[in-house]
Amino acid sequence: MQHFPHIELSNRLKIPILGLGTSHHGGYSHDAVVYALQQCGIRHVDTAKRYGCEEALGKSIAESQVPRDDLWITTKLWPGDYGYQSAKEACRASRERLGVEYLDLYLMHWPDCAVPGRSNRDVRAETWRALEELYDEGLCRSVGVSNFLIPHLEELKEDGSVMPHVNQVEFHPFQQPWQLVEFCRSEGVAFEGYCPLAKGQALDHPLIVELAQKYRCSASQICIRWSIQNQIITIPKSTKPDRILENCQVFGFQLEDTDMAAMSALHDGRHVFGFTLAEEDMESIGRLHVDKKLIHLSYPLWNG
Ligand SMILES: NC(=O)c1ccc[n+]([C@@H]2O[C@H](COP(=O)([O-])OP(=O)(O)OC[C@H]3O[C@@H](n4cnc5c(N)ncnc54)[C@H](OP(=O)(O)O)[C@@H]3O)[C@@H](O)[C@H]2O)c1
Repeated sequence: MQHFPHIELSNRLKIPILGLGTSHHGGYSHDAVVYALQQCGIRHVDTAKRYGCEEALGKSIAESQVPRDDLWITTKLWPGDYGYQSAKEACRASRERLGVEYLDLYLMHWPDCAVPGRSNRDVRAETWRALEELYDEGLCRSVGVSNFLIPHLEELKEDGSVMPHVNQVEFHPFQQPWQLVEFCRSEGVAFEGYCPLAKGQALDHPLIVELAQKYRCSASQICIRWSIQNQIITIPKSTKPDRILENCQVFGFQLEDTDMAAMSALHDGRHVFGFTLAEEDMESIGRLHVDKKLIHLSYPLWNG
């Protein structure tokens, strides 16, 4: 069985560059996850409280009999659980549902908090303090954020003592937030991309179909390979065993530089996820003179 390459985080932990996404949208397949773990060599699985499948994932992991130490499990803290005490309780509940004593990566799911009477920045800082403590206690081997823009990361750098190990953000051929990727890398924050297939929208793009023919592989493999060659941690999701296997077979070929460049030219700013901006964040983004394009990076509708 193949072993996937890793990306080293700032705390020296190694996260497999390719993981399996999960979600409540499109269903959760127990058999597919067991197959991914037992037959495809997948060791990295991404989930979230919000996806409603942590308990099911715990059962799939147990049935796979893959040793816990060989796995990388990421889950996420939902904004409804932000705050010092509630974040700690939510982490314990997620660990219980997953049937694990520790998480490999725990992410704050969105930057928007929507706690009445409190600023988003304050709530994020207080929540982050809880994650830092969970990290210190070893209950989370690494901690990070998701959908954070440069201003959110700059604030967290001022407010916290540990920089996030990872920022998980929408990333695919139509959505390439390079300014954020470079910022994260300059701050030692590993960049992880979600929706690497643009939820399937990238799979019939003429260039991607042409490259699939050239490299004798599938359009999905082209998208995943392109993320990996960009050193982006990536988590394609499928509920179908044959597709999961296909999505893992991306280490036996290399895209040529000209094809990498052609893929990079596909960015059109498109999001495959709903999003909105809190007024306060609009103000802070304006104050920090961030490239307006970045505002549209990935700001999902937190309660959507
Ligand atoms: N942090 C965040 O805010 C956030 C937001 C969104 C997603 N995520 C994470 O990122 C993961 C991936 O994102 P995503 O599921 O939204 O999008 P995606 O991985 O870009 O696309 C998934 C879609 O592509 C299909 N698919 C997968 N492999 C295929 C293949 N080889 N050929 C044809 N179709 C294929 C899947 O259908 P089937 O299942 O029917 O195969 C599904 O409809 C999620 O599962 C989640 O873990 C995180």
